[in-house]
Amino acid sequence: MAKYRINIAIDGHSSAGKSSMAKALAKELNYVYVDTGAMYRGVTLFAMKERIVLNGVVDEQALESALDRLFLTFRFNPNTECSEMYLGGVNIEKEIRSMEVAKNVSLVAKIPAVRDKLVAKQRRMAEGNGIVMDGRDIGTVVLPNAELKFFMTADPEVRAWRRLSELQANGKNVTYNEVLENVLSRDRIDSERAVAPLKQAKDAIVIDNSNLTMEEQYEFMLNITKKRMEEV
Ligand code: DC
Repeated sequence: MAKYRINIAIDGHSSAGKSSMAKALAKELNYVYVDTGAMYRGVTLFAMKERIVLNGVVDEQALESALDRLFLTFRFNPNTECSEMYLGGVNIEKEIRSMEVAKNVSLVAKIPAVRDKLVAKQRRMAEGNGIVMDGRDIGTVVLPNAELKFFMTADPEVRAWRRLSELQANGKNVTYNEVLENVLSRDRIDSERAVAPLKQAKDAIVIDNSNLTMEEQYEFMLNITKKRMEEV
């Protein structure tokens, strides 16, 4: 057993299955799961509602000034045993998973003022340790001292098929090509942006899960986690 609770950072490409693994690990260890993508999606929905994002264009200055009015919080839902995202007291968990939000989120996530605000919040959440946090810059920027870091990826086509079945299961009417295009464009914008681009931390354990089942991957990650917890 670990002498103390560790922090686990999980980064990687869009739809690489980070959140499923992070949730499962957090549940097993009795840790708190933080979905930082949900926070960027929450800001995006806020900007869309405020008409600061229109037709794929973000008014950066307007968003920066509006950030003082942004109140994003996670609340635990005992029925689903998951934390859900709230914007000013309203549950937005379903809305932030739409294709409309997915299409705009990378544009909003590259704005430095947005990142500063969310990164500060994420660091505060991890202060007490015992966190499994997933995103794009967790191991590199948010928690560079996390005791354990994973970097997850898979072929874009595999990720698009997985995402499509998830969206269809939620009754969303989208095509494979639309999803693949979104996965590729988010990869590109997330990796090429100037601030905190998606990249592997030097000390991250890389997992390409293109040919792994969820169970195989989970067993692998849990074993590594247990080993690491014994070392610290
Ligand atoms: O993990 P996700 O697909 O829900 O994330 C949505 C978007 O948010 C993703 O395209 C990039 C951005 N993001 C980010 O820039 N940094 C993070 N730590 C998490 C997500």
